Amino acid sequence: MRKPIIAGNWKMFKTFDEAVEFAENVREKVPSEEKVDAVICAPAIYLPTLVDIAAETDLAIGAQNMHFENEGAFTGEISPSQLASIHVDYCIIGHSERREYFNETDEAVNKKVRAALMNGIVPIICCGETLEERESAKTEEKVASQVTEALEGFSPEEVKHMVIAYEPIWAIGTGKTATADDANAVCGKIREVVEGLYGEETASTIRIQYGGSVKPENIEELLSKEHIDGALVGGASLQADSYLALLNQAA
Ligand code: G3H
Repeated sequence: MRKPIIAGNWKMFKTFDEAVEFAENVREKVPSEEKVDAVICAPAIYLPTLVDIAAETDLAIGAQNMHFENEGAFTGEISPSQLASIHVDYCIIGHSERREYFNETDEAVNKKVRAALMNGIVPIICCGETLEERESAKTEEKVASQVTEALEGFSPEEVKHMVIAYEPIWAIGTGKTATADDANAVCGKIREVVEGLYGEETASTIRIQYGGSVKPENIEELLSKEHIDGALVGGASLQADSYLALLNQAA
C-alpha cells in the first residue's frame, strides 16, 4: 500500500504574516504522518520560518523550484544544498508554470531531480498535457516523454523515493478537473512507463499524484482510484480549513 501524499503549492500567494498564521494554525492539526504525508510548498523566502514552525510536527515543508547546481554565479537562484541546509524536505520540479513562463526544459528537470536526490530532497516531478494535446489525443505520448526524460539515469532505488505529479495544464486553476477515471488512466500510463524503465517493484512503489482543481469535494473520488496516490493542490491549499479537509480525507 502506498501512503497518500497531499502537497499544497502556494505558488506566489500569501504575505509573510498569512503564511505564518496558516502554519501555526495547521501544525498541530495535520493527521499523523503514518497515514498521510502532508506537505506545504511555500515561496522561498518563507521557508526557514515555516520549517521552524513545522519542526517536530507531521507537517513537512517544500520549495516550489530550485537550481540544479549546488553553488555558483546564478544571480537570484536558490540551490538544492541551500534548501537542504535549512531542512526543506521536498521540492516541486518542472511545474507547468515554470516550463511555460521560465523556459524550463525536460533536460533541466532531469538535472534538478538528480540534484534534489543528492541533497536528500524528495522531488515532486510534474508532467501534463495542454488542452490542445489532449484534444489531439497526444496526452499519453506527452506525459510518457516528460516522465522518461525526467527519470533518465537513475537507479530503481532512487526512483522509488520520487513523487510524480500528473497535472493536465487545462485543469490548473480553471475549476475543470479531469474525471477521476481519466486522471487514473493517465496515472496508470505513467506507472507503466516507470515499469518499462525501472521494473515492476519500482513502478508499484513510486507515488503518483493528480493535480488540477483538486478540492475537498472531489478528492475522495480521485483518491479512490488505483493509480492516484495523492494530490498536488494549488488554490484549495491556501485556506487552512480546506487544506486540512483534504488531508483528513486522505488519511
Ligand atoms: O501545483 C498545483 C497545481 O498547479 C494545481 O493548481 O489546484 O489551483 O488547480 P489548482
